[in-house]
Parts: sequence; C-alpha cells; structure tokens
Amino acid sequence: MSLRALLDGLPIPILQAPMVGASLDGLALAVSRAGGLGSLAAGALAPADIGPAVAAMKRATDRPFGVNLLMAPRATPDAADVAAALDRLAPWYAERGEPLPAVPNQFAPDFEAQLAAVTEAAPAVASFTFGVLGRAQVEALQSAGTYVVGTATTVAEALAWAEAGADGICAQGFEAGGHRGHFLAELEASLVGTMALVATVRAAVDLPVIAAGGVMDGRGVAAALALGASAAQMGTAFLLADEAVTAEPWRRAVREAGDEPTRLTRAFTGRYARGVENRFMRLMHGVEADVPAYPVQNRLTQPLRAAAARADDPEMMSLWAGQAVRLARAGSAEEMVRRWWAEARAAAKDLAARTGGVE
Ligand SMILES: Cc1cc2nc3c(=O)[nH]c(=O)nc-3n(C[C@H](O)[C@H](O)[C@H](O)COP(=O)(O)O)c2cc1C
Repeated sequence: MSLRALLDGLPIPILQAPMVGASLDGLALAVSRAGGLGSLAAGALAPADIGPAVAAMKRATDRPFGVNLLMAPRATPDAADVAAALDRLAPWYAERGEPLPAVPNQFAPDFEAQLAAVTEAAPAVASFTFGVLGRAQVEALQSAGTYVVGTATTVAEALAWAEAGADGICAQGFEAGGHRGHFLAELEASLVGTMALVATVRAAVDLPVIAAGGVMDGRGVAAALALGASAAQMGTAFLLADEAVTAEPWRRAVREAGDEPTRLTRAFTGRYARGVENRFMRLMHGVEADVPAYPVQNRLTQPLRAAAARADDPEMMSLWAGQAVRLARAGSAEEMVRRWWAEARAAAKDLAARTGGVE
C-alpha cells in the first residue's frame, strides 16, 4: 500500500484540515465515516494525551484518519522580550477584566515528545506543519505503518519534504485560513496561490499532492483534482459544521464575514495566520513586527483569547478563516462531505460536456 493508493481508494477524496481551536476528534471521525479522511489536530495536545486520543479514535472507527502536529520550535525567549510583550498586551487584558498572565515556563508542548507519541500511536497518516522532519523521524513513522505528509507553501519546501522521505505533500496555498506553514523563506516569498502551487509541486516532486487553500465546495474539489491533486484538504468550509468546536463569536464572525477581505497577521501568535479582521488585528498592526515569534506570543495571548470567547467578544479572538470564508455553510459534516462530492461529480460532468468529452 502507498499513500497514493490510500488517497485514490478513499470513497471521497476530501481531507478535513486539522484545525487547532476549531476541530477535535468528533469532526475528524465524522469526515472519515463519511468516506473522506478526518484529521486530529494534535498540535496543542500534551504528549501524554495523544496516545489515548488516537486509541479512542481507532476504537470508534475502522476508517483511516490522520493526526497533525505543529513543529513549534523550543522557545527560550529573553525575559526582557517577554516582559515587553506582556506590557504591550496589558491594556487588552485590563479592558477584558483579566489579570495579566504570569510568565509561563513552557510556551508550547514539547514537539519531540509529541512526535514520539504519534509514532507510537501509529495513525494511518501523520501530517506536519511549520518545518520538515529528519529522515530518521520519517522512517520511524513509516516503520510503524504511518504515511507521512509534509505541509509545503513553496516548491522548495515540497522538495525538502521529498528529500526527507515523505509519502505526500500538502500544498498550502495563499488563500488558506489559519497559520501559514512556511518554514524556508520569509512570508513574502511564500505566498503562492493554490492553483500555481499544486501545479508546480506536482511538476517538481513525484509524490501525491493534497491541495489546501480556498476549496469550499464541490467545484473547488473538482478543480483541485483537475490540477492533479490526489485530494482536497478543506478547513474553513468546516468551521460552521455541527461537529466543529468553533466558539460561538467566531462562528458569528464567519457567518457575517461577507465580502470583507481576510487578513494575515502575526499579532496574535508571532506567526502569520489568516483570519477575519477585528479590532485586535487592526490596533496591533503597527507593532506586529515587534511581537515575539511563535510560540511565545501565541502562549501570551491564549488567556486573553479564551476570556474573550467566554465573554462573547469576537474583537479579541483569533478568528482564523480563509479567503473564501463567505462560502462557509452550517450543517452536519457528514452531509457536507457527501454533498461536496456530489457537486464535484456534477462539475466534472459539466466540464466534460463543455470540453466535448461526452456526446
Ligand atoms: C481555524 C484553522 C485552524 C488551523 N489549524 C491548523 C493546524 O492545527 N494544523 C495545520 O496543519 N493546519 C491548520 N490550519 C490550516 C489548514 O490545514 C489548511 O491549510 C487550510 O484550512 C486550508 O485552507 P481553507 O481554510 O481555505 O480551506 C488551520 C486552518 C484554520 C482555518
């Protein structure tokens, strides 16, 4: 078996994007049961919680699913930088009526320990974002029976993953919601649109490509397959799903986004991510180059964002969403996946008729 065979054999070639903060096991299981491939967003999970979570999902379904980790660097920031970052956030905490958090002794779960837990848990697929694994780490996952998918935002990043021995590439276009996965070049050199990225990654590496960014319905799925992708990965399209854990003010922002453009910001986390613009993004824009790099700023704003969610205040939450957010619809994830596939098939038929493929 190969990852290509697994993807080709899916009844529905739709992958649910892992979404820290918006998706848990419930959404992943619903998508896998519908015939797609769900993914557990394990980026924020403690290493000790990963094994039990994957084991519970394996008990809940015989269908394959993925597990995703964010390759956060181990952060040892200067005390003065952390103090300056907290000073910058102090007015926001004060406005929300929350105490300024104490300096944490850890800024993100330990990646090496998370990786060991995923390798041991042996899901069908493991995907990684924000970096590239070493060859030995990839081989350990593969020996455990897990296919390795690396997220790439440029051809150079796809080649780095191919060099490391990955089984497939998730090509994340500029349109995508949430964090940009770039790890080789700076942001400006890593903003390739999904259409250009899928086509160029396909031409550069002999691995199955998963298209991510801006796919919101069956026409998008058909377009991704027409470009040569083996599957489409969808995130924003699931934000309003019943099984998503998107907080209510965030759902409201998604529903009401309309034609307002989404924006990239590093103000919330110290790493560029795309979301619906709000007051925090606007007012922090001038200082966003100064905030400490991910995961430090991410950890320092977490209590603020959680308090804002509890207070039903979208203006201090990270409202991650992709460029095509206005097409997001509510409903059951299982029905969404089935409907998108029916739409994709209809779109392919229309296209065949238009191009003279059917009489
Ligand atoms: C709310 C949200 C959270 C995300 N969290 C993750 C994550 O934990 N890991 C990851 O690899 N990608 C994450 N992404 C990016 C997705 O994997 C994917 O690239 C993106 O959703 C595709 O674009 P779309 O949102 O237009 O569908 C996230 C995206 C969103 C919208």
